[in-house]
Amino acid sequence: MVERLDDTLAPMEVSVFEPTAESSARQRILPDEEWLLHQPLIEEIQRLKVARKAVILAHNYQTPEIFHGVADLSGDSLALARLAASSEAQVIVMCGVHFMAETAKILSPERTVLIPDLAAGCSLADSITGADVRALREQYPDAPVVTYVNTSAEVKAESDVCCTSSNALEVVESLSAERVLFLPDRYLGHWVAGQTSKELILWEGACEVHERFSAAQIRGLREGGRSLKVLAHPECPPDVLAEADFVGSTSGMINHLKRTLPARVALITECSMSDNVALELPQIEFVRPCNLCPHMKRITLEKIRDTLLHMRYEVQVEPELGRRARRAVERMLAIG
Ligand code: 13P
Ligand code: SF4
Repeated sequence: MVERLDDTLAPMEVSVFEPTAESSARQRILPDEEWLLHQPLIEEIQRLKVARKAVILAHNYQTPEIFHGVADLSGDSLALARLAASSEAQVIVMCGVHFMAETAKILSPERTVLIPDLAAGCSLADSITGADVRALREQYPDAPVVTYVNTSAEVKAESDVCCTSSNALEVVESLSAERVLFLPDRYLGHWVAGQTSKELILWEGACEVHERFSAAQIRGLREGGRSLKVLAHPECPPDVLAEADFVGSTSGMINHLKRTLPARVALITECSMSDNVALELPQIEFVRPCNLCPHMKRITLEKIRDTLLHMRYEVQVEPELGRRARRAVERMLAIG
């Protein structure tokens, strides 16, 4: 039963947007006029969040008004899984895609996990089913199954251990088997295979956002003489990764930028990454060849407000399936 919040909330105060040091920093990523438009919703969400005792988790690909405006905690897929496991909040609002909310529910079955749009999917999660994993196990009975977290609970439940782009190599190396089924991202798998002596059997899945980048595009960016550092996500095709100066997860890229502070950078990944990092690292010039993830972009401030107002859309995982999936996720968290 949805609790009515009308009685518990004080009337909304009208706030006047005054430029401050923080607002001028924000202006680097969105003009003041745009922040001004977002401000009423941001304030409404902040108030609803307190009333619902909720925590808002946001992936690094969320838009700046979500990432900087309402998120309590943010990070890459691994960080979000860890935060979901350690959060004390009874209500978790996941601003990301469905597999991220499902992973939070798998790790915290007693909590209420909400996602602002149930249709926020992922081409990798859609590329493989539990039945596919069972068929592969029959074909390769001695190979343990390592599954990227970008998969459904059903696929995780059929797996031995999960991984993210932050820890994929570490997870593969932790296994004693010499042959490993690595599912479902063929490009992440190819990148890991290039760094381990183990044989990786890959699936044909791919991220529809990262597979659109090309090596020629990167070479084009470098033309013109001005020094440019290229950081790429391992979901990109191998020829794109070969052109990059650094390959890592979304948080891996952010940490690399903070450590090395290059003057000019291209982040070969989803578009919001550069916007979100630019606020914190104003000294870096971001060159922006980027691709939008249509699934991540389904999450908006309006939908987050409605999520908190109506306590929707709750993500459920059948308990026995969740128990089996949790084994694979917790095994990953214990590794790194
Ligand atoms: P990471 O944030 O774990 O690098 O993952 C990127 C991604 O595509 C998530 O959907
Ligand atoms: Fe899935 Fe790619 Fe979007 Fe990430 S960026 S959610 S991997 S489609």
